[in-house]
Amino acid sequence: MAYPVITIDGPSGAGKGTVCLKLAEALGYQLLDSGALYRIVGLKAVEAGLLGVESDGENGDIDANQIAKLTSDLDIQFLPNINTDDIDTNSGSGHHIRIVVDGQDVGNEIRNETIGHYASKVAVLPEVRSALLDLQQDMANEAGLIADGRDMGTVVFPNADVKIYLTASAEARADRRVNQLTDAGDNANYEAILASIKERDARDENRSVSPSKPAEDALVLDSSSMDADTVFAEIKKHCQRKGICF
Ligand code: C5P
Repeated sequence: MAYPVITIDGPSGAGKGTVCLKLAEALGYQLLDSGALYRIVGLKAVEAGLLGVESDGENGDIDANQIAKLTSDLDIQFLPNINTDDIDTNSGSGHHIRIVVDGQDVGNEIRNETIGHYASKVAVLPEVRSALLDLQQDMANEAGLIADGRDMGTVVFPNADVKIYLTASAEARADRRVNQLTDAGDNANYEAILASIKERDARDENRSVSPSKPAEDALVLDSSSMDADTVFAEIKKHCQRKGICF
């Protein structure tokens, strides 16, 4: 039996994490945080010395086959978080699941700008993308799925029941990131964050494999001036139009 799949693609900071978590809870579906997979590969490639300051030049400097081999060898598990104190449905910070790689919980370690940068470096490599494909597609064989990413609707789940592309201006996303960091008591430099968002967007949107873009049959939503509840309500309406009612 085929389970329903809802794909939510779009750039970082558009509000995907928050809405995906709410949808997964409302529908009782599993959640695939595909960005976490690329972040894990970025982290592990840095730890293995395959990516880093010296080798962080053009992609020609990166050994794609070695990084793909490392990717295939990883034991990645998304486990339910039994510590409910960690769960924050407002920020959608991803703590609803524990991400365990080779027996080690990496949930916190992968959630920073530096690892986001490395994730987008390894994400341009076709070898890495194909090494992660089965793992992602297999998640739709177990239960209904909310798939959060860049190429969920275009490449990984082209037959998804509902496809959304959630975007927002780079400035709105930088503002949100500054607020998140400030709320957490960290320093935030708006200009540096905006520049990093623009750099990552350009790499994600212009790469030759699986660029971040809306699927032809996706509903495109711009959340620049919408709050999380409005985004959720719009997506819920669209799901209902497509026969997924909750
Ligand atoms: O969504 P998140 O910011 O965690 O993603 C980190 C990076 O992983 C993105 O900037 C993108 O380069 C890559 N990614 C991707 N395809 C996905 C999910 C994430 O290329 N489906």
